[in-house]
Amino acid sequence: MNNKDTYQQFLDLVTSRYSCRSYQATPVSRDTLKKVIATAQLAPSACNRQPWEFIIIDTPELCQGVIKSYDREWVKTAPAFIIACGNHDEAWHRASDGKDHTDVDLSIAIEHICLAAASLELGTCWICNFDVDILKGQLNIPENIEPIAIIPIGYPNMDATIPSKNRKNIEDIIKWGKY
Ligand SMILES: Cc1cc2nc3c(=O)[nH]c(=O)nc-3n(C[C@H](O)[C@H](O)[C@H](O)COP(=O)(O)O)c2cc1C
Repeated sequence: MNNKDTYQQFLDLVTSRYSCRSYQATPVSRDTLKKVIATAQLAPSACNRQPWEFIIIDTPELCQGVIKSYDREWVKTAPAFIIACGNHDEAWHRASDGKDHTDVDLSIAIEHICLAAASLELGTCWICNFDVDILKGQLNIPENIEPIAIIPIGYPNMDATIPSKNRKNIEDIIKWGKY
């Protein structure tokens, strides 16, 4: 595979990912969910601390618990959820200012999940606007573990509208040289 093909394939994959907010009821197999998580396992992390754990929810009863923390009609269509959790005690903290890199590390892993899912024609959506206490209570998440994002995952409902890519102009986000 030459570099041009690899770039184009990656660009196509990145373009195909979108925030999916309507799913088919078809279940996602545990093998497929594991394949998706295998790409999060390979994500880089500060000092290779890998301060992450992924709770997989694929039973209707536990899905109900997740929905209680983010009660939206569209979320109810998801057949499964991945809860990406961070452990602040394991994460690297920068010596110069103490900055905790949990969120940075988790964000990379989560995006690997979303892109891997897209490569398997699965839809996902980052959800951060959930109630942390409700989610922790529903899933018995211990005190020192922070749920960073809920990721609904499932086969997209083909009738749903795909949101258009609304992005800043590339020339407005690049600064060549000094700021
Ligand atoms: C950190 C983060 C948090 C987000 N939280 C939510 C959320 O709580 N609910 C939601 O519907 N979408 C959420 N989104 C999805 C964004 O709205 C979406 O990525 C953005 O509008 C761009 O659209 P696209 O993903 O379809 O390209 C979140 C995305 C990110 C990266």
